[in-house]
Amino acid sequence: MEALEKRYTNYVTNDHRKKYGQFYTIDKIADFMVAWIIENNPLTIYDPAFGMGAFYRSVEKKNFKCDFIASEIDKVSYDFYCKNSNNINLQLTCEDYFSKWDIEKYDAIVCNPPYLKFQNFVNRKIVIDKLSFFISKKISGYINMASAFLLKSIIELKKNGRLAYIMPVEFLNTGYGNTVKEILLKYGSVFNIIKIEDEKKTFEDAVTTVCIIFFEKSTNIDFITFSKISSIENMNIKRYYCINRDAIDFRQKWINFFEKNETVVNKDKLDNKFVPLSQYGKFKRGIATGANEFFTLRKSDIKKIGLSDNEVSYCITKSNQVKTSIFNNKLLKEMSDNDEYIY
Ligand SMILES: C[S@@+](CC[C@H](N)C(=O)[O-])C[C@H]1O[C@@H](n2cnc3c(N)ncnc32)[C@H](O)[C@@H]1O
Repeated sequence: MEALEKRYTNYVTNDHRKKYGQFYTIDKIADFMVAWIIENNPLTIYDPAFGMGAFYRSVEKKNFKCDFIASEIDKVSYDFYCKNSNNINLQLTCEDYFSKWDIEKYDAIVCNPPYLKFQNFVNRKIVIDKLSFFISKKISGYINMASAFLLKSIIELKKNGRLAYIMPVEFLNTGYGNTVKEILLKYGSVFNIIKIEDEKKTFEDAVTTVCIIFFEKSTNIDFITFSKISSIENMNIKRYYCINRDAIDFRQKWINFFEKNETVVNKDKLDNKFVPLSQYGKFKRGIATGANEFFTLRKSDIKKIGLSDNEVSYCITKSNQVKTSIFNNKLLKEMSDNDEYIY
């Protein structure tokens, strides 16, 4: 983590950071993203989720002259930044990104949006209605905060403008992600989608796999490239797959494109080693109630409530409960004995 970010994370509690989705971009990644957006010499650059200003710092370091505009919702973060940094060329406002709606306002937008459940956002309904209005398409209620940020930024980007965004990779495969992919294809060209393999070094405490999207609001770019950064240390970027923008469908699961080459190369070798997943069992996703604290229990809870064995069943309630690649009944029993939430 960079120096200012470190000082800030020592200054506030983890719960405060979690509440606002405060995970920070390391300078290497910020420099990489900024280098791409400034190739077009933008007069204005906007960061809608400023934090400790990783992207602004990068623009300053490169001595690139432009109007740098930014928003930060959290007053604690905003005050800390203003007190502890040099911000001569910066127009930073303490505001909710969703409080103002502009069309085609910025030449470039660079952002690492908060990874928060949009479901907990108070003005969620208003934001979904606004986004649906601007893109003339109904937005799914399952959309996450990062995707809502990205859609709004696409609307706000000027014609021919460039946008560089960090996104959780799963949006490339989900239902609500289809709308985001459709809009990316409709409003311009996706230049590159780069999956970060080394994510623990990039976002120390984030729990999700992320990618970087380079998008230009023009039809100048014919091919979408899928790449991976396998090592942050030397910024080793490997191209995996390239597809013509007319040949790609937003309904496809784009995550598969990161594996394309490997699959082709190894297919013959691997074919006879595979069996259908169904050979091992049935796999179902449970209902998402949003109320795990009510539905999930520990051994001690079961005893306290007086439930019998046939009234409960085992359930892995969070993926991070499984810490090993092989998980068996012995581990399940240990979790039960440790009074973890596995019923
Ligand atoms: C993932 S951090 C990224 C910070 C910084 N740009 C970076 O890349 O290191 C997201 C930031 O957005 C802020 N944020 C969260 N919701 C916001 C909103 N609705 N409007 C503006 N800022 C928001 C958080 O407080 C946090 O500082």
